[in-house]
Amino acid sequence: MAASNPDAVYLKDYQPSAYLINRTELHFDLLEDCVIVSSRIHLLRISAPAETASITLNGEEMELLSVSVDGRKLEEEEYRVSAKALVIYSIPEQCVLACETRIRPQENTSLSGLYKSRSLFCTQCEAEGFRRITYYIDRPDVMSVFTVTVEGDLQRYPVLLSNGNLIETQQVANGRHSAVWHDPFPKPAYLFALVAGNLEYIEERFTTMSDREVALRIYVEKKDIDKCGYAMRSLQQAMRWDEEVYGREYDLDIFNIVAVDDFNMGAMENKSLNIFNTSCVLCSSQITTDLGFQRVQSIVAHEYFHNWSGNRVTCRDWFQLSLKEGFTVFRDSQFSADMGSATVKRVEDVSLLRSVQFAEDAGPMSHPIRPESFIEINNFYTATVYEKGAEVVRMIHTLLGAESFRRGSDLYFERHDGQAVTCEDFVLAMEDASGINLQQFRYWYSQAGTPHLSVQDDYDEAAQCYTLHVEQSCPATPGQAKKSPFVIPLAVGLLGEAGNLPLRLQDAPADTDTGDNTHRVLTVSQSKQSFVFEGVTERPVPSLLRGFSAPVSLHFNYSSQDLCALMRRDGDGFVRWDSAQTLLARVIFAVEQQFVSGTAAILDQLLIDACSDLLRDESLDPAMVAEMLRLPGEEYLAEQASQSGGANVDSIHQAREWVRSALGQALAPLFLQRYQGLESHLAAATEATQIADRSLRNMCLGYLVSGNRDNLALASAQYRQATNMTDRQAALKEIAFYAGHELRASTLDNFHQQWRHEALVVNQWFQVQAAIPDSEGLSRVQLLMCHADFDLGNPNKVRALVGGFVNQNLINFHHLDGSGYRFLKDMVVKLNRLNPQLASRLLTPLTKWRRYPDRGELMRAELEGLAAEPALSSDVFEIVSKSLQ
Ligand code: TRP
Ligand code: ZN
Repeated sequence: MAASNPDAVYLKDYQPSAYLINRTELHFDLLEDCVIVSSRIHLLRISAPAETASITLNGEEMELLSVSVDGRKLEEEEYRVSAKALVIYSIPEQCVLACETRIRPQENTSLSGLYKSRSLFCTQCEAEGFRRITYYIDRPDVMSVFTVTVEGDLQRYPVLLSNGNLIETQQVANGRHSAVWHDPFPKPAYLFALVAGNLEYIEERFTTMSDREVALRIYVEKKDIDKCGYAMRSLQQAMRWDEEVYGREYDLDIFNIVAVDDFNMGAMENKSLNIFNTSCVLCSSQITTDLGFQRVQSIVAHEYFHNWSGNRVTCRDWFQLSLKEGFTVFRDSQFSADMGSATVKRVEDVSLLRSVQFAEDAGPMSHPIRPESFIEINNFYTATVYEKGAEVVRMIHTLLGAESFRRGSDLYFERHDGQAVTCEDFVLAMEDASGINLQQFRYWYSQAGTPHLSVQDDYDEAAQCYTLHVEQSCPATPGQAKKSPFVIPLAVGLLGEAGNLPLRLQDAPADTDTGDNTHRVLTVSQSKQSFVFEGVTERPVPSLLRGFSAPVSLHFNYSSQDLCALMRRDGDGFVRWDSAQTLLARVIFAVEQQFVSGTAAILDQLLIDACSDLLRDESLDPAMVAEMLRLPGEEYLAEQASQSGGANVDSIHQAREWVRSALGQALAPLFLQRYQGLESHLAAATEATQIADRSLRNMCLGYLVSGNRDNLALASAQYRQATNMTDRQAALKEIAFYAGHELRASTLDNFHQQWRHEALVVNQWFQVQAAIPDSEGLSRVQLLMCHADFDLGNPNKVRALVGGFVNQNLINFHHLDGSGYRFLKDMVVKLNRLNPQLASRLLTPLTKWRRYPDRGELMRAELEGLAAEPALSSDVFEIVSKSLQ
């Protein structure tokens, strides 16, 4: 490993900055081979004067041209420049520090700092990208008022944008022009943004709750101008929703969104100048699937919500990242639930949490939502900080109730407006506003790992008492051997023959909150605890963890009959779905066992009957039926299997495919009937019902093709007749996965021909092919990497093709000859130089080597190989070294 391994930073070492920066003035001279940045920062020392008044500024990958203090140019012996910093040995208590630097955005492939995305200049400063633009105190608790001048060629860069309000524009010599932007709100450097290029925009107005007019603009390349309408509507919905639900109003006269092709994540909440990955803005039914539309809506909302949860109130340090991300994900999930089906949204969120976050929390990168240390902060934009963080906020919402929670959020925003604060400040505001003690609840912030909740029951018929015995435990995680008990809100119901029973909890007042006496939230706070229900007239089936009331893994010894009962009749939509998933997973594992032991596989008749009932019941929401019929993913199944001994990807894949095919055969007439029925119904329906119908219809198509390859004719017809990308892509996927060579090749070719001018669709084309689970999996991907449309510099393409392969093509990635692992290692070596953030994210599947007893050693060998590489980025170094510990 590299001689100078990067050091870890610790939360316990936090010290406030010795200096404030009251004002920041920046001037950018945009040239064709470089950019000259001139900065003037107004410094004020706030700590007691140290012996020497030296200052250290962050700065990387730049060339210092000159530095002056209060107008006097410094001599070379007055400062020192290293690879990561500028140290000035002595400066006055209050002064203006001016630096002139040269940077090369044209050569910046890391997409952090100022870079070029094709002909466009753009920035990404979170978390620590600003230090690649100019020397600065680049930390979120240093907040400053920015004034920014951008100067560039008028033809090439007619649009010049930065944060805040446009103060003036000017023509200057040599066909150049400039624009001055001023942002009145003090902000940390990570929220700074600059965009320059040849863009068009759509504009709408929004009138806020106190009657202020805001201009909303979305900037895109001219060719994409007709694909911005949905993002604009989503923005307006989000603005209204935040006023109505949180009382939060927008605070400037202008709100801009810019879409760029090359972007490391989904989007960024820079103050009044959000920068988005094109994949999270551009939409039309021709190029975007229904899932894609949903993603645009939720990400537009997410970034907008950050204006309060993140920007007006920001983070003191990066250990507090979940303060803004967990809260904002919670807010955007509430918003999406309100805009569509709340249960479907919950099901999608929980599926993601269980397959990605639970795995992360069970692996070498396991960390609390507020980590205690990190080597590279970019590695902590994780499912734990975001999704588990949102679950923690949701639990506070559940424990306090909606009204107290709102009082808590009001207090938080009011108390800390303009400040950089901590997770502790958030919890305190919630406690102060509600009077509820959250002392023990705080373990959710400091302890990593997924708690196990094991429940047993007891029914005393004579006394008509039903008891739930609850036990919690949490596995050890790196650095945390022993855990204290968590506070776990456990939402429950009791299902009797005729429906959910009224609940009377012993020694507890009636739950007045909901008005529904068949639903109750138990608060579990000890390692072992029992809850007694009185007046229970029959032995019930417990409906547990309703709505997924806590991010725990729940164990109750349900019979398959119990699961079917919950699936059919429970009052909680989430539990109905979850019971179906448990049953499906159980059946898949049973079939896997049958394969392993060489006995003939048979499909459980209970499952067939339950699925048949689901398909017959036309009163159910088709979207929910589709979710209940969706087989648990291979990734989730592998994680489950590893909890009880070890996972075998091949037999899991086989068993899962077999179950789908057997179910497809057993219920073929029903699947066909629903498939055809939903089609005729589609044209007249509203948008929401159309989406739900398409979802079930395409689920039926999948089962039909799995059950009988002759049904590929249906897929082919659907492919040709599709009027939208959802149906077209669903059909394409069936053909790509299951058709013979000829039909597959001609369909994929047709798709490419038709859509090769739409980069986002070409990505879908790459992704579908990357996931094909046949014996040519890897060679197909390697061939596609040489395709003219592939580009290693574009993260969307890399994620589609390489990410699609390593995350969605499990049997090929895990091929026993180790070729998939070697491929990923080679990709990571290449990307480590180009784009460390991307390299490090792609690496995730290799970190799970302990899950696979039969091939973990092969995976570990590639990690060792990576560790031996020279010049590892801190991003890749951290993941590799922690995975090997
Ligand atoms: N704050 C962004 C969000 O809303 C995350 C983000 C965007 C990001 N770009 C990034 C994080 C680059 C790290 C690096 O979730
Ligand atoms: Zn965010």
